[in-house]
Amino acid sequence: MIHKKMEEAINKQINAEMYSAYLYLAMAAYFEANDQPGFASWMKVQYQEELTHSLKFFNYVHERGGKVVLTAIEAPQQTWDSPLHAFEETLKHEEYVTSLINDLVDTAIEVRDHTTNSFLQWYLDEQVEEEATASNILAQLKMLRESKDSLYLLDKELGLRVFVDATQEK
Ligand code: FEO
Repeated sequence: MIHKKMEEAINKQINAEMYSAYLYLAMAAYFEANDQPGFASWMKVQYQEELTHSLKFFNYVHERGGKVVLTAIEAPQQTWDSPLHAFEETLKHEEYVTSLINDLVDTAIEVRDHTTNSFLQWYLDEQVEEEATASNILAQLKMLRESKDSLYLLDKELGLRVFVDATQEK
């Protein structure tokens, strides 16, 4: 049976991951309106990934005999100044999520829940990837700035991203 404090903390994280999904879906809408279908598609994949992050926690709570409590999801920002601005916010958000996962690990250690600590290692690894990917795209955007040709090519490249369902991974 999962410790009550751990259960509450994971329930909060389920909400935080749903908020992340919502944020990236809002960014997808922004890019659609901006006629950048590749960026929009990348954000929709990101949205799907966040849903699976949430679902993985949801499944875990049940596996451990806990209770999932779903709460209201905050409305995300709706628009950004530029693709560069959107990716600055993406990186900032992922750094924040990393801090939330670190807090969950702290709670697992505090209540001596080694099983949850082990489960959370997947999220720690995932956050390294999340930050690196956002940081890499941000660096490219900084390099090309206002060049419309380069933005067009980056849009094409980002449109190639495909969704991999993390709930199917072990
Ligand atoms: Fe679920 Fe992007 O962290």
